[in-house]
Amino acid sequence: MFETLKKATLDKIFVLMAEYAADPRDGKIDLGVGVDKDPKGVTPVMSSVKKAEQRILDSAKTKTYKGVVGNKEFSAAIVDLALGGVVDNKRIRCVNGAGGTGALSILMNVLGRARPKGRIFISDPSWPNHWPMAELAGLTPVYYPYFDHKTRIVDFPAMLAALDTLTSDDIVLLHGCCHNPTGASLTNAQWDEVVESLKRTGAFPLVDLAYLGFGDGLEADAYGVRKVVSSVPESMVAFSASKNFGLYRERAGVAIAIARDSDSADVVSSQMQNVIRATISQTPDHGAEIVRVILEDKDLRAEWEAELTEMRERMKRLRVKLADAIRQRSNSKDFDFIAEHTGMFSLLGLPEDVVTKLKLDDGVYMINDSRINVAGIPEDRIGELADKMLAAIR
Ligand code: LMR
Repeated sequence: MFETLKKATLDKIFVLMAEYAADPRDGKIDLGVGVDKDPKGVTPVMSSVKKAEQRILDSAKTKTYKGVVGNKEFSAAIVDLALGGVVDNKRIRCVNGAGGTGALSILMNVLGRARPKGRIFISDPSWPNHWPMAELAGLTPVYYPYFDHKTRIVDFPAMLAALDTLTSDDIVLLHGCCHNPTGASLTNAQWDEVVESLKRTGAFPLVDLAYLGFGDGLEADAYGVRKVVSSVPESMVAFSASKNFGLYRERAGVAIAIARDSDSADVVSSQMQNVIRATISQTPDHGAEIVRVILEDKDLRAEWEAELTEMRERMKRLRVKLADAIRQRSNSKDFDFIAEHTGMFSLLGLPEDVVTKLKLDDGVYMINDSRINVAGIPEDRIGELADKMLAAIR
């Protein structure tokens, strides 16, 4: 049986994570996988999450099945948080996903049934998992231009020109905020123009919302997704609670479909449920229940929002400090863009041999396209990191 198989390509983010873990050197620096880190390099459990977990532990009476759609109260709380009531709930249907990736996979599989081999337009570059996920769902991934490698901002004219060529059979995958991997995100005015383009062409928007609250705040970061779902008749959103609730391995996410009307929403819901049942039957509930408990409790919610603000402010501070350190040492503004980018990541634009040199010689790990996880920058070693980066470039 297995002799017919070829070795598959493994995702570079998790390959790098394993390499980092296997590296015995003291002082190695992990700027790879997108996780928050405390000053000791540990990814902490949020205090609001710990309290919610304790409450669940104390009050849980059963672990029986929840049903295929999962934790409905969790989904409802996420719809409120992300969409803020801009669409009539009658048009919305949700199922829980195993993390944001699980949610996205359900949505892509439903789209693959709606448009077998249909084209799905993905930003160039994008999160490396988008492309294989689309292929697995029976869609045909195609890149649209996104990043200007010279200015390190969005090449918006090129992006818009490409989106304007789409048809009503096409799907466009949009990063809801905090673009991964570049860190260059759309402005509100650009979101408005993207939405006008979607209205002109009828292309179907699928929004990947994995970093809500990591850019400029929960409300500010929701501008794009709310604009999209309130402006077009049909859309989908994959929400992830992995980063903003620090729940990574618990796999909490929501697949949200917004249909023209309630009847059509029921059809989409049945398709989403059919995909879940035929793949994992039910999604894990622990993370979903944690988020539900936090969002439904005034005090825990306030505590979570404060923790999220702290994470976001820390990332912003690290961005400014690294940009400053490089500018002072190199006397050039070449890396000032790090402070301008938003969210967890920045694409540095370093050649792959420099990235490899940093890993092998200095124990500084970043993705081979030179994406760094800003939250992984050790605040007390920023000068040393800047020195290493500049030495590797020279
Ligand atoms: C990342 O991009 O590093 C994260 O989203 C983790 C992942 O699943 O790839």
